[in-house]
This record gives sequence, structure tokens and C-alpha cells, in this order.
Amino acid sequence: MKQEPHLERRSKGKGPKHGPAGGHSKANGETRHPQGLPEMSPLLTDKSLLRKMARKGFDNGAVTPDYTLDKDTVIGLLNESLATEIVCTLRYKRHYYVANGIKGRYVAAEFKQHAIEELAHADLIAERIMQLGGTPDFNPVGLADRSHAEYFTGTDLHDMIRENLVAERIAIESYRAFIQFLGDKDPTTRSMLESILSMEEEHADDLTDLMKD
Ligand SMILES: [Fe+2]
Ligand SMILES: [Fe+2]
Repeated sequence: MKQEPHLERRSKGKGPKHGPAGGHSKANGETRHPQGLPEMSPLLTDKSLLRKMARKGFDNGAVTPDYTLDKDTVIGLLNESLATEIVCTLRYKRHYYVANGIKGRYVAAEFKQHAIEELAHADLIAERIMQLGGTPDFNPVGLADRSHAEYFTGTDLHDMIRENLVAERIAIESYRAFIQFLGDKDPTTRSMLESILSMEEEHADDLTDLMKD
């Protein structure tokens, strides 16, 4: 029943002129979608242009000519995130071995799990750097300087939990800023960072709970 007004408008001869994807052209967009839709890229309506663009600079692999961000800047930022994930992996690994006592064993298991997940993030980021035509920087020289988060050498269980929480909060802030910088110009990197960000938020949540215990 709700479709009736929609059909009525079509019958007045203001329907789509066989445009793609249901005719979301500017001419009829207002009729069918009063709230308005963003204009379509010509790449969605012109197959020959799409094919031509894909052939242009194909040496760049996954990076097509419509990639409008400065690739080196994105790769540089990804390498900083990679360093952060490696430092976080190392810190959690150390804390896993150092944590002791009855509560320590329980906390250590959490640290171990986080270490595994931070390493998985590092792999995702390194893979994306390769797709963008860069080289992931695994050089241990300068690793701590490239990382946003710090390595912490304390041995007190409470201090370790707190410093890991601080590191997670640093990672969360840096990923949010990175995601904002990308906007809609690199959806692949963006969705990868969003998935990593959601896990960093879970880590921070886990640590906040451990602080209370
Ligand atoms: Fe991570
Ligand atoms: Fe994390």
C-alpha cells in the first residue's frame, strides 16, 4: 500500500529514462527520493571510461587513478600504525611473562590474547601497505620512535594494566584521527582501520575491567 504514491508519480510521465541502478539521475532523483541522493560518479555510468581508467597505470596494482590521496602520506601513516602495533605486541608479550601471582595468571592470559590480536593488526596493516605499493617498515632501529604508544618496563601488575590501558587509548585516538583523515577517499584502508579500532576499544574495555578487580 505504501508504494501507491510512488507508482502514481511514475504514471505522470516523470519516471526515469532508463538510467542505471533504478534511475537515480538528478532529473528524477528529487521525485523518487525527496531527501536527495549524492550524484553518481561517471565511473558508474560509463563502462568504457571505467575500463580505460583501470588500464591506465596498471603497474600500480590495486591503486587506481581515482585514488586521490597522497599515497606516500597514507603509507607513512600506516607505517606509524604498524610500529605501534609491533610495540604493543612486544609490550603485551613482556607483560604476559612478567605478570605473576594468583591474579597475575588471570591478567597474563588477557595480555597474551591482546598480544596475539595486536600482531594480527600489524599483519593487516603491512598487507595494506604492500597493496598501496609501499614497504612495511619492520626495522627495529627507531621502532619505539615511530610508534605512537610506548613500551613499558615496569613489573607491578597494576602499573602494567594501567600502562596498557594508556597505550590502547593512544591507539584509539590515533586510529580515529587517521580514519577522519581518510574520509571517503580510501574505503579499504578506512574499513580495515575501523575494524582495528573496534578491537582496540574492546582491549581498553577489558583493561578498564581489570583495573577495577
Ligand atoms: Fe592493535
Ligand atoms: Fe589493542
